[in-house]
Amino acid sequence: MDDVLRKAVKSGEQKSLHAMDVYEAVTSRRAVRGFTNQPVPVEVLERIVSAATWAPSGSNIQPWHIYVVTGARLAELKRLAGARVAAGDPWDEREYEMYPRELKSPYRERKSAFGAQRYGALGIARGDLEARQRAASANWAFFGAPAGLFCYIHRDMGPPQWADVGMYLQTVMLLLRAEGLHSCPQMAWSVYRKTVAQLLSPPDGLILFCGMSIGYEDTTVVHPRTPRAPLAETVTFAA
Ligand SMILES: Cc1cc2nc3c(=O)[nH]c(=O)nc-3n(C[C@H](O)[C@H](O)[C@H](O)COP(=O)(O)O)c2cc1C
Repeated sequence: MDDVLRKAVKSGEQKSLHAMDVYEAVTSRRAVRGFTNQPVPVEVLERIVSAATWAPSGSNIQPWHIYVVTGARLAELKRLAGARVAAGDPWDEREYEMYPRELKSPYRERKSAFGAQRYGALGIARGDLEARQRAASANWAFFGAPAGLFCYIHRDMGPPQWADVGMYLQTVMLLLRAEGLHSCPQMAWSVYRKTVAQLLSPPDGLILFCGMSIGYEDTTVVHPRTPRAPLAETVTFAA
């Protein structure tokens, strides 16, 4: 990984051939859950993580720890995670809660609308938890993607640094769009964090926040656009 980052810094100022308008990058990014097996060139990934180092963070502490995974390492990770899924292994104990235990309105309604849309699009009935779980298990195959990224943060860090990490990840996802690539950020990987650690040996003290599938979209997989709340629900203009 150090080598990858060193090279990336060297090639840092190179620009993508697919430079894209920022609005187009933002609006065309969505969680893609079906990828082709077309490999992603490592130089492209290097260029992206190199540019993403310019993401902002409070006092510039850059609290993200990133692993870019491809090739044999990715294949092995998919194999091990797939074996755990197939064996019905219990999830690793949580290092952070994905959502508040009691998700209040309007977040609760938004979350269930998302679930209904995501699984409804796959023809899965609302109450069919087993089918939902089967569909969700594609997370641990990176939805077929040929590249993945893992994002760790030190366990001492607080909410502002977790927000920094979010900005970093969005920066990566927008740069991926500029390269003609798509992504899916995945907290799902946090429940198999021990398997990820087995492959990556991160230093002590880091929490696995999420993984990310990276690749070229499989356009045969139908992706209904996940809608957003009306602007007035989330933004107040005060003049
Ligand atoms: C931090 C984070 C973690 C996520 N984890 C998962 C995940 O584990 N699996 C998944 O399929 N989608 C995951 N998503 C994708 C969200 O479901 C998706 O971003 C949201 O529903 C909005 O849809 P859109 O990104 O397609 O616009 C995650 C998104 C974020 C930002």
